[in-house]
Amino acid sequence: MSKLALLGGEKIRKEKFPPYKPIGEEEFEHSKKVFESSIFSRFLGCWHEDFYGGPTVQELEKKWAEYFGVKHAISVNSATSALYCAVGAVGTEPFEEVIVCPYTMCASATAPLIYNAIPVFADVEPDCFCLDVKSIEERITDKTRAIIVVDILGQPYNATEINALAKKHGLYVIEDCAQAPYAKLNGQYTGTLGDIGIYSLNYHKHIHSGEGGILVTNNDELANRLKLIRNHAEAVVEAKGDKDLTNMVGYNYRMTEIEAAIAYEQLDKLAPLIEERRKNIRYIEDRLKDLPFLTMPKVREGGEHSYYQHAFLYDENVTGIHRNKFVEAVCAELMPITLRETEGIKVGCGYVKPLYLLPIYQNKIAYGTKGFPWNYAEKENGRVYDYSKGICPVVEDLHFNKLISHEYMRPGLTKNDLDDFINSFIKVWENIDELR
Ligand SMILES: Cc1ncc(COP(=O)(O)O)c(C=O)c1O
Repeated sequence: MSKLALLGGEKIRKEKFPPYKPIGEEEFEHSKKVFESSIFSRFLGCWHEDFYGGPTVQELEKKWAEYFGVKHAISVNSATSALYCAVGAVGTEPFEEVIVCPYTMCASATAPLIYNAIPVFADVEPDCFCLDVKSIEERITDKTRAIIVVDILGQPYNATEINALAKKHGLYVIEDCAQAPYAKLNGQYTGTLGDIGIYSLNYHKHIHSGEGGILVTNNDELANRLKLIRNHAEAVVEAKGDKDLTNMVGYNYRMTEIEAAIAYEQLDKLAPLIEERRKNIRYIEDRLKDLPFLTMPKVREGGEHSYYQHAFLYDENVTGIHRNKFVEAVCAELMPITLRETEGIKVGCGYVKPLYLLPIYQNKIAYGTKGFPWNYAEKENGRVYDYSKGICPVVEDLHFNKLISHEYMRPGLTKNDLDDFINSFIKVWENIDELR
């Protein structure tokens, strides 16, 4: 009789893991106040005192800016909207290029397309998984407008070198910090390291309000443009007296008062929630660090990680079996899950498929049927945009062979829960011969 659950043995874990629930009484009480006021939003899409939104939205923005030590915080209805605002605010022209990351949630790479600009993928670092500065440098051309860096899985991007490179070439740095609030690099919060930073408040994140996003910047002009794009710019600029009409096509990206009330309270919980993640990670790493086929993830020098996910590097040369088989065996020891929060926690083969392999890039079909904007950009810029397999070898090796991600560090898990997760790795390793 096999010991491994994958081959018919008993599972280590026979119950679901507790869901992650960072919301409590404070969020309920604050949103109740908004409910009682009956004002769920107070934005007006014209030049009026309500152009900047209602009291709770503005209180949240003030609190967020103070917390992260930044001049402006601008709430929006998602980090996706925030990315779109940012690409517009930096003045992106149609057919210009924006350097993006292939290992991130899709919106951080497709955002340039909203302005008919071209996403150009650079490769990532083999140990920290963020954009690699050398690879970015190789992709810079006379058409590059900006770099969208991502603090992936909670790791701060290499701001020291990437910001210097951007400065040298006159490029904007848009920092997608959706997965890394409260992380730091050299004492400075992530999100505030680039020209514009972006946080997400969707319900998978460390803190959340269901949906929502926040933009931050120290630049007054960018802050003004971000607020215009958030709220019907074209109807506002004339009365407001804004002369620069570049990308002043506005959207409705406004956050509601209820979401702002929830986010206001959530911000107070950010630090303790992340400290608990860090404590759980220390425990997990301490128990797994001696497994000879696993490398614990690196935290960038001078950095503090916020562990949206935790990622091991797996060495097939030691186990003699492919990572996917190993992960399958680990998952079989735990409860089967869906991606719903209440259904458990995943252990993943890699993170997301390198984004240039998505059909939108493989077929170059975004708007209409004729390949726009690539068809025009390729003519105008005299180059062909290549999204074929192999353009970012590091990310492909990580994703298809080496990286194992998981979220078994979430607050609310007990020591017993963590032990079940850890023991599933140890058990599979001790019985690895059964898989060979
Ligand atoms: C890195 C990253 N960027 C952007 C987003 C988009 O966030 P939202 O769902 O708030 O639009 C996400 C969401 O998962 C993300 O992980």
